[in-house]
Amino acid sequence: MTGTGSPSATLAPYGLRCDHRAEPLGLDAAAPLLSWRLASGRRGDAPAAYRVRVRVAGGAADGTEVWDSGQVADPAAVGALYAGEPLRPRTRYRWTVTVTAEDGAAGEAESWFETGMGAPTGWTASWITHDRTALDVVDAPEEGVLAIPDHGLEPAIRLRRAFETAAAPVRARLYVTAKGLYEVRVNGVRAGDAELAPGWTDYRDRIEYQTYDVTALLRAGGNVLAATIADGWWSGFTGFDARRSGAHYGTFPELLAELHLTHADGATEVIATGADWLTARGPVRYADLLMGECHDLRRETPGWDRPDPPAATAEALAGWLPAQVTGDGHDLLIASVAQPVRAVRELPAVSVTRDPDGRHLVDFGQNFAGRVRLTARGLARGDRVVIRHAETLDDDGRIYTANLRTAAATDVLVAGDAAEAVFEPGFTYHGFRYAEVSGLESLDAADVTGVVLHSDTPWAGAFACSDPAVERLHRNIEWGQRSNFVSVPTDCPQRDERLGWLADAQVFLPTACLNADVAAFFDGWLREVRGAQSADGCFTNVAPRLAGVADEGAPGWGDAGVLVPWHLYTVYGDERVLERNLDAMCAWVDFVHRHNPDLVWSRRVGPHYADWLALAPTPRDVVATAYFARSAELTARAAEVLGRGETARRYGSLAEHVRKAFGERFVTADGRVEGDTQTAYLLALAFDLLPAALVPRAAARLAELVEAAGPGVTTGFLGVGLIAPVLDAHGRADLAHALLRRTEAPSWLSPLRHGATTVWERWDGYTDERGFQAAAMNSFNHYALGSVGEWLYQGVAGLGQAPDSAGYRELLIRPRPGGLTAASASYESVRGTVRTAWTREDGAFRLQVTVPPGASATVVVPTPDPGGVREGGVPAAEAPGVRIIAAEPGALRCHVTSGEYRFTAEAH
Ligand code: BGC
Repeated sequence: MTGTGSPSATLAPYGLRCDHRAEPLGLDAAAPLLSWRLASGRRGDAPAAYRVRVRVAGGAADGTEVWDSGQVADPAAVGALYAGEPLRPRTRYRWTVTVTAEDGAAGEAESWFETGMGAPTGWTASWITHDRTALDVVDAPEEGVLAIPDHGLEPAIRLRRAFETAAAPVRARLYVTAKGLYEVRVNGVRAGDAELAPGWTDYRDRIEYQTYDVTALLRAGGNVLAATIADGWWSGFTGFDARRSGAHYGTFPELLAELHLTHADGATEVIATGADWLTARGPVRYADLLMGECHDLRRETPGWDRPDPPAATAEALAGWLPAQVTGDGHDLLIASVAQPVRAVRELPAVSVTRDPDGRHLVDFGQNFAGRVRLTARGLARGDRVVIRHAETLDDDGRIYTANLRTAAATDVLVAGDAAEAVFEPGFTYHGFRYAEVSGLESLDAADVTGVVLHSDTPWAGAFACSDPAVERLHRNIEWGQRSNFVSVPTDCPQRDERLGWLADAQVFLPTACLNADVAAFFDGWLREVRGAQSADGCFTNVAPRLAGVADEGAPGWGDAGVLVPWHLYTVYGDERVLERNLDAMCAWVDFVHRHNPDLVWSRRVGPHYADWLALAPTPRDVVATAYFARSAELTARAAEVLGRGETARRYGSLAEHVRKAFGERFVTADGRVEGDTQTAYLLALAFDLLPAALVPRAAARLAELVEAAGPGVTTGFLGVGLIAPVLDAHGRADLAHALLRRTEAPSWLSPLRHGATTVWERWDGYTDERGFQAAAMNSFNHYALGSVGEWLYQGVAGLGQAPDSAGYRELLIRPRPGGLTAASASYESVRGTVRTAWTREDGAFRLQVTVPPGASATVVVPTPDPGGVREGGVPAAEAPGVRIIAAEPGALRCHVTSGEYRFTAEAH
């Protein structure tokens, strides 16, 4: 890809994406979205037109043009849906975009995408696994060796296929998936860098496959394609009810793979999984997401994945069994749409000490999701090194694992003949900051590393401010996102749960979208949300769906099926997310309506979690009916965006009626909302449920309740993300700041006093008075309460989007300094980079703003002297690109075109 984000003199496209991914390999969409961002060094620069051209790259048709959009005059566009000749499977396409500015200057950038297997009929591979009825040679028990507790799990399976090819191919692609988790190797080298692949879907309906470019790994002559498969979400312990093996999806892992080789003369060969593969139980004695993983190096067969294994391994391989073919269905296969989980970074050990029992205690200084890589030294055959994981320590300085519930989260290495071994499990992950290591005489900090795993969504946001505690909070929120975006958005990474809870995702989404580009990630997850919807329209509480779990969506949980697509549309401006979800949104609203014809949602409320974990509970019907109105309203708006007027009118009128019912049933004539809690007012105000005349009263009552609590926050999951924005929207940014910077519990900053490096599940996960909350539900890494992160960007730093804008076309830059002296944020929007940075120093307020080409912004400069605001050294009214809208009490409101601006004003 060419083009950069740094401002150039002329309009420059950069950051090219295909269906929201950079250079995706293995794409099955018929009409992907080709999109770009824009940068420019010229104020007021704006695109007028674009032209996209797509050509075949490589092969006999190299260079053939398959689509030319022609010159399209569209100043709003930052993307185009492919509309050329049908895309062929397994083909690379190169595409260029040329963007022409209003003055005729043009900028160009290039990227590529590559299609995958296409229709399921393109596959020839069979699903294979190990014949469990046979006892293979490597599985024979070794004498004098203690049994390892295996939680009833079975060893991971190794599979191998040796093949010859006359010449090194010019192109080799591996299309692979598993029921379970897989790791594939070509001639001893790992293919790709995806972790926990193929990721979690409801495998009964959909199985994603991945594509790897393995050209460089193949050679003329003998080659080996090899894989290990393990239980994962498919047949391991999944969810909170400690069941495995057949309880949810399947009983035993299976592999499906096709290696497509293309030779210089155009000839092709396919090596596919089938009966000609050999299998064995390998040295991974068990591997489970919740329980952990055990490697027994006594059973290792070095070189098993290469064409030329040493003699001892060759002998062992002779005992491998022919693979068992379990089927050849390909109907459920789909190309993965999101970035895979990857080992995204490594954390060095901050310290290695001894716990009171003399065990090694490793502190990584950060709670995260991932695993430990450890170099073990001084080993003797059969020695066991045991690694246990925990988020925190108990008061005696031992790891605290009670809150993991039944998740053993324990990895075990059994030593072979070598005195030194490097151990890193491959088919599990844990949520932890501390690792307890036993079985080693000594352990150096340099010998342990924390490997951070998460879905590799590109980081898009940055935030800083003058209060280090608020910055730490922001980092904790980011770490909550990293730790819980693992294939699907989960509630927590540590205990026996880690489920795709819908409300958690819904409330955190606005924050998540500012931290990272999660368009593709949520697109994949929404498929699971829709897939889990019942025939009569009911969404669930968790997605992917678990088999055998009756799950009817609760208010605020099921509603995520409406709120998430809508929010994604506003952030990314891609209408297809609404197209894909509108029918499901309508069906959900119809479901709620059908069962609640009086428009107060009190029936079919699933497990009704209400304002989950609130300190002041809000009446259930208030919460539910507010969400009913919201879902109806957003469904109407989605229909309107898609030009479906009749649908828009129907749901718009339903929303209006539900709002009326809400008012009649729950709101008094003087603006009191039933329950009289923070969340009751937050929902009523944020979801626009009150007649205009009552809004100021309700806002005032909300402020009173906040003040009476300390000022403090008493909401649970459903109110927490709304409190700062709603207070701010109603003129009480001062109170939002008071809540933000409060350090006594309950508050966002109080966990920092206990060393928190992630956001906690509960306001009182640990308190000085009581110590730990009940272990049955006390995660230290849940993101829901971190939903305040949105206001750090939009309120504190002032980086936001105007209310009716989609895809960051119209920005709202309105910093709320509070008692801070500086704050800044940047965000890589679909349109280009947005930046704000302000300081308050020596009586002056200085604000820098960057607006990407094609966008414009309303900028609100806080100052007691609106007439004295200057931009770039001249009075704002005279500055190029600046148009004054109004001098307001305490602020100057102006409108700016794209470019960089430097405002100075007298400070409050
Ligand atoms: C999860 C949540 C979830 C909730 C439903 C908890 O066990 O951790 O985050 O939303 O259940 O009430």
